[in-house]
Amino acid sequence: MIRPIIPADTDALVALTQATGMFKPLEIVALREVLDDYFAENQADGHVAIAFEDTAAGAIVGYAYYGPAPMTEGTWQLWWIAVEKNQQGRGVGSRLLRHVEDDIRVNHQGRILFIETGSLPHYELTRQFYRKFDYEQHALLKDFYAVGDSMVVFRKALNA
Ligand SMILES: CC(C)(COP(=O)(O)OP(=O)(O)OC[C@H]1O[C@@H](n2cnc3c(N)ncnc32)[C@H](O)[C@@H]1OP(=O)(O)O)[C@@H](O)C(=O)NCCC(=O)NCCS
Repeated sequence: MIRPIIPADTDALVALTQATGMFKPLEIVALREVLDDYFAENQADGHVAIAFEDTAAGAIVGYAYYGPAPMTEGTWQLWWIAVEKNQQGRGVGSRLLRHVEDDIRVNHQGRILFIETGSLPHYELTRQFYRKFDYEQHALLKDFYAVGDSMVVFRKALNA
């Protein structure tokens, strides 16, 4: 079941993200701040955070966080998506991303979605995931995160 996240989900979302082993410690710290800011104000400004819950187990197995890019017309960004490590590769991320795209297009009349990720080898499966969903690798910001660690920007027109 996909549902909106609530403040009581925060610890589980941070723990799930950390346990993927894909994020730097400073990114985990930032995530908690992002979620706090989401409940304090950004939710009211149009940001959206959803969880995929295994209802039988009563546990969150994945989530996505997205919102409209400020000062644009119909441009959205997916800022976070993660699935619990031992549940990856079973379709949860696909269901979340499809939900994100449908929500943006149908309920918000969004026309384009950008996703940023890393260039390092351990993100190759993640990049494959976006390519599988017909995202085009649109830009590479060389050494953006650190020397040798570039930002890869994926782009998809949602009304194509
Ligand atoms: C990327 C991620 C959200 C995809 O969710 P998922 O539930 O694993 O993906 P799905 O099962 O829906 O889709 C599987 C496809 O995604 C890709 N994929 C990405 N990570 C994968 C993984 N760990 N295991 C298997 N497939 C993975 C493959 O291309 C796969 O296609 P295939 O089945 O034809 O080989 C998830 O793997 C994840 O949380 N990864 C770590 C965190 C991360 O990279 N987040 C994004 C930061 S920008």
